[in-house]
Amino acid sequence: MTTSTTPHSPARISVLASGGGSNLHALIDHFAGAAASVGVITFVASDSESAGALDRARAAGIATGVLDAPLDSDAVLSLLDTAKTDVLVLAGYLKLVPAGVVLAFRGRILNVHPALLPSFGGPGMYGRRIHEAVLAHGVTLTGVTVHFVDEHFDRGPIIAQWPVPVLPGDDVALLAARVLRAEHRLLPLCVAAVASGAIVLGEDGRVHGHLDFPADVAQFFSR
Ligand code: GRF
Repeated sequence: MTTSTTPHSPARISVLASGGGSNLHALIDHFAGAAASVGVITFVASDSESAGALDRARAAGIATGVLDAPLDSDAVLSLLDTAKTDVLVLAGYLKLVPAGVVLAFRGRILNVHPALLPSFGGPGMYGRRIHEAVLAHGVTLTGVTVHFVDEHFDRGPIIAQWPVPVLPGDDVALLAARVLRAEHRLLPLCVAAVASGAIVLGEDGRVHGHLDFPADVAQFFSR
C-alpha cells in the first residue's frame, strides 16, 4: 500500500474503539513486533473519553483523540487526516462510520465482529448480546469475522473468518472470552495483510489476495 509518507515506510494505522481496547492491545503488540516493517499504530480515537482503549494508547505513547461528532464525516476525516492515516481499524467501535469516511477510506477500513457474519450481525448486535443470541439459537459453531467496512453495520466484504466452537456448559462470559482470544489473533493478521497490500478490495467489490495464517493458529483454537 502506498503510504502517506514514503512508499516503503510502514503504513500509519489509526484505530477507533469505544470500549476497553483489548483488540487495540493485540494490534499494538503485533505492530511493535513481527509486523513493525508493515505498519505502526499512530493514532487512537474514541467516541467516549472514558474508554479504556484511550488509556492503553496513552500508556503505549500513542497519540489519542475524542470524537465529539462521530457521525459527522468532516469532523472524523479532519482528525484522521491530521494523523496522516493510511489504514483505519474499528476495534470494538460501536458507532456507524459516516459515508464520507467510508468513501475516503474504501479498501483501507476494517472492522472485527465477534460472530460468523452474516449471522448475528447488524444494528444492535454488539458485545454480550451477540453471544447471548448464539447460545439462545443453540448453534455449535461461532467465530470471528474481519471485514472491509461499508455504509452499513457488519455488511462489508469479508476478509477472513475463523471458527470458534460453542462448548457444552458455555455461558456468555466463557464464550465471549474464547471468541475474544480468536479476535486478538485474527484482527492483527488481517490489518497487516491490508497494510502490506497482500489483501485488497477490488473495483469489483470483491476481496482479492491471500492471508497467511501462522502454523500455530490452528492449535490456538483448541480448548
Ligand atoms: C470485542 O468482542 C469486540 O469485537 C466487540 O467488543 C468486544 C470488546 O472489544 N465489539 P475490546 O476489548 O474493546 O477490543
